Amino acid sequence: RAVHLADYQPFTHRVEQVALTFRLHPQATRVAAVLRIAPNPARPGRHDLRLDGENLKLLSLAVEGQALAVVPDATGLTIPAGALPEGAFTLTTEVEIAPEGNTALEGLYMSRGMYCTQCEAEGFRKITFYPDRPDVMAPFRVRIEADLPVLLSNGNPVAQGQGWAEWEDPWPKPAYLFALVAGDLVAHAAPFRTASGRDVALNIWVRPGDQDRCAYAMDSLIRSMRWDEEVYGREYDLDVFNIVAVDDFNMGAMENKGLNIFNSKFVLASPETATDDDFARIEAIIAHEYFHNWTGNRITCRDWFQLCLKEGLTVFRDQQFSGDMRSHAVKRIEDVLLLRALQFREDGGPLAHPVRPESYVEINNFYTATVYEKGAEIIGMLKRLVGDEGYARALDLYFTRHDGQAATIEDWLKVFEDATGRDLAQFKRWYTEAGTPRVKVWEEWDGATYTLTFAQVNPATPGQPAKGEKVIPIAVGLLNPNGDEVLPTTVLELTEARQSFRFPAATRPIPSILRGFSAPVVIEREVTPEERAFLLAHDTDPFNKWEAGRALAKDLLARMVTEGASPGPDWLDAVARVVMDEALDPAFRALALRLPGEDDMAATLHAGGVTPDPARIWAERRRMGEALARRLAPQLPALIDRLAEPGPFSPDARAAGRRALRIAALGWLARVDGGRAAAAAYRAANNMTEEVGALAALLEIGAGQEELALFEARWSKDRNVMDKWFALQILHAHPDRAVAVTDALTRHPAFDWKNPNRFRSVLGALSGNHAGFHHASGAGYALLADWLIRLDPVNPQTAARMSTAFETWPRYDGARGEKALAALGRIAATPGLSRDLGEMVTRMQGE
Ligand code: ARG
Ligand code: ZN
Repeated sequence: RAVHLADYQPFTHRVEQVALTFRLHPQATRVAAVLRIAPNPARPGRHDLRLDGENLKLLSLAVEGQALAVVPDATGLTIPAGALPEGAFTLTTEVEIAPEGNTALEGLYMSRGMYCTQCEAEGFRKITFYPDRPDVMAPFRVRIEADLPVLLSNGNPVAQGQGWAEWEDPWPKPAYLFALVAGDLVAHAAPFRTASGRDVALNIWVRPGDQDRCAYAMDSLIRSMRWDEEVYGREYDLDVFNIVAVDDFNMGAMENKGLNIFNSKFVLASPETATDDDFARIEAIIAHEYFHNWTGNRITCRDWFQLCLKEGLTVFRDQQFSGDMRSHAVKRIEDVLLLRALQFREDGGPLAHPVRPESYVEINNFYTATVYEKGAEIIGMLKRLVGDEGYARALDLYFTRHDGQAATIEDWLKVFEDATGRDLAQFKRWYTEAGTPRVKVWEEWDGATYTLTFAQVNPATPGQPAKGEKVIPIAVGLLNPNGDEVLPTTVLELTEARQSFRFPAATRPIPSILRGFSAPVVIEREVTPEERAFLLAHDTDPFNKWEAGRALAKDLLARMVTEGASPGPDWLDAVARVVMDEALDPAFRALALRLPGEDDMAATLHAGGVTPDPARIWAERRRMGEALARRLAPQLPALIDRLAEPGPFSPDARAAGRRALRIAALGWLARVDGGRAAAAAYRAANNMTEEVGALAALLEIGAGQEELALFEARWSKDRNVMDKWFALQILHAHPDRAVAVTDALTRHPAFDWKNPNRFRSVLGALSGNHAGFHHASGAGYALLADWLIRLDPVNPQTAARMSTAFETWPRYDGARGEKALAALGRIAATPGLSRDLGEMVTRMQGE
């Protein structure tokens, strides 16, 4: 049942042209396909033709116009070689499908009356019989017939009339990039002219009434298009670029050629309905999908094992873009927070897998933080190792050499080798070996020379007991005791198990190690609180300045949990200084103020050999916050006033940073003023950022019931906003109440559990409440298992994704572990379990 990278073979045939006709109907859509097919010279000899197809009612099939009786099996159909002409031929099929009943949201489905598609990774086989694999690329012509005002597909519009439209996509593409949308939609339109003078009509299609919430997404799109021209020299290549917002969507968005389809929460935004984080995510995802036009579409993946080829690179590109648009320092800190929260967690548990996996049962289970985020980190390391110019040359070569191809990680690395002359054989291990390297650091100073010694340990992961040394670029800087930088950022290349680097130094320097988080590793080094405080005050590298503050807080919280320590004046003063330092960017100060997360703390304790107790982490973290609140209280009201933004709302990074710090301050103040300031801020808020921020501050202190009711009354008609209402009360519930609150909300009339956003906002929020989900009673595990079992037959992809909440069970005590395993066992024993959820549960159960 598993697919293996080692088994890859080119497809037996080539598809030279695809022509599809859709006659849309909710219960009985007809799809007629005319495929021009030829033998593939890469597979000499005569071969049967195997086409993928699932849940398709075959109405007719003909080869060169001759009807053929073929009986499909559960996963497709085979036309024997003997029934095929020797050279090229035309295959015609007609099938019937039922989009209305397609609750899995894969293939052609309906979302509140609108037809839409999601084909990546293997959804096209639910639309028509086809070789549904990314290395089969063909130009598509599509005709849509439906009595609906807007009919969209990939490429350029070529003809239309009452009730029909025809589209032609000249760029050969794999089936996973196919898309179709039909419905009663309105466009937010804008023109764009590319650098070489091609006019492109940009349209964002939404439901009537939502068109006034598209301006930010459109602005983000235009900036993305310009940026890709300026930074990567990549122009858009069609006459139109369409984006559609859909309410029922399993993931964030999809880069279908010329017709990106988005989860509506990553398109629609107005100051009243979207938070600053929403605006930032919209900008990043619009950019991400647009950037895929080159890194993903023009150059695609040979097979799904190469997923990181397009995803890692495209995430890296969208991170660069967001950094250029906003603040590189803040963006880097946020990206590392996410990497550690999701990818390190994955890499350290039973679901660990290489950035390029070697086998899978269900490919949808590999759209992971490892493939995406660690994949992006690898690109960042490559760029650091070969330099900005080397990177630019390599990317130019990649685009010229592989345009129009389905490529591999080997192709990608070869481009860097050819462009820079660097041997990347050892570097490649980052793609093939799972696990987060741990790097121990020792220092030595003899009066004249300062020596840094590094040793790397690459821990075992499921299926990979032993691994080789990685190439780890470690950016370091040295400061003297006055706080001046004596060695500016220098990249050391750790390639061996243990390696030393020497620097002349007349006084003992203070090292700043792994600046900018130059590699996705864990640094293990004994550092005194004084040294951390020194770096927090003086480091010139903004990431490490933040990291020093973070580490101080984590060390302290660990000692509070394990030894009953208390926050002392040193830590409180150090944080207060950063918070009040008007020379620092407010967004940076807000990040510095954020306490370490509970899950992060649990992981850190576990790595240090301590079994984490979620309830205790929660309580100690709360005590830490209260101490900080008391320390900061006298200054907070003035800070909150100073940060108020007069004038109209602007979603730009500067204003967002000020709001972030203001809301953090409101949160602290709530702990000492009983929520008076937050309740007032809630009522005065004229934007969703402050509305949500004030509400969260109130919920954190056990208040906010009145505000929750106000919120619901005001926003009950707005799905995306109501998702926040559901999630907030669960995320901020007391750990002893989180399961009951979640359970009650699943009985709320607006809990439309078949909608993935709503399911995530309730059950995802439960798993985001660390101490609530890992409650000693096991009730959190049981409730999530109940809902996954219920969701699985309806939407296996989302059920499988949400099951990762269980991946950390090995960290906790035996009683919790048993309860989590019992919940997993109950899921595993469910009759008819999907391949998606089945694979996840089996992997999490371990050997
Ligand atoms: N390629 C899309 C993106 O990165 C993700 C779509 C994945 N969808 C899925 N069902 N696996 O934006
Ligand atoms: Zn992507």
